[in-house]
Amino acid sequence: MYTWNDIEQHITVCTCCPLSKTRHLPVVGRGSRSADIMLIAEAPGGQEDQEGIPFVGRSGKILDELLENCSLTREEIYITNILKCHPPGNRDPKEEEKEACFPYLKYETYLLKPKIIVCLGRVAAQRIISPGYKITRQHGTWTYRKDCALTAVYHPSAILRDPAKMEETKADFMEIVRKRDELLPVK
Ligand code: URA
Repeated sequence: MYTWNDIEQHITVCTCCPLSKTRHLPVVGRGSRSADIMLIAEAPGGQEDQEGIPFVGRSGKILDELLENCSLTREEIYITNILKCHPPGNRDPKEEEKEACFPYLKYETYLLKPKIIVCLGRVAAQRIISPGYKITRQHGTWTYRKDCALTAVYHPSAILRDPAKMEETKADFMEIVRKRDELLPVK
């Protein structure tokens, strides 16, 4: 069985897909390894590729605003991506890249055993919740799988493109905290 350190080491030297040739640094998940809430986005952006840390660029600032608004901190959640390497030009991840990288996400999820999974954006929601997921219509709604509640919210970069999405995404994050308190009343 793999440990967190094994996964991190595998990702650091991974050559499973061609993104390993163009990446600067792979981006391993960050945050609490005993978090109840796991955030999953699609792939690192350019700034993340430079620093090897998820959500350190402009999207990260939006994410921090969303977290702060509902009194969550990065230290109490776990944030990761489906792809651990930056797709050049921020294009959507290719199917084969998602498949090559998916085992890492599976191990992260297995080790973390989150009670709540939050997909950030359409790409993550369609890979994790259902292929036909419509982010505009379904964001903020819940799906249950085994011991875990799953939802999706707009990706922070969608809020950068359309700031009008900020308020409803803040409301979705408040609902995520409400769900955590419902599922885990004493902590
Ligand atoms: N966008 C993502 O989807 N993930 C990151 O880590 C940063 C930006």
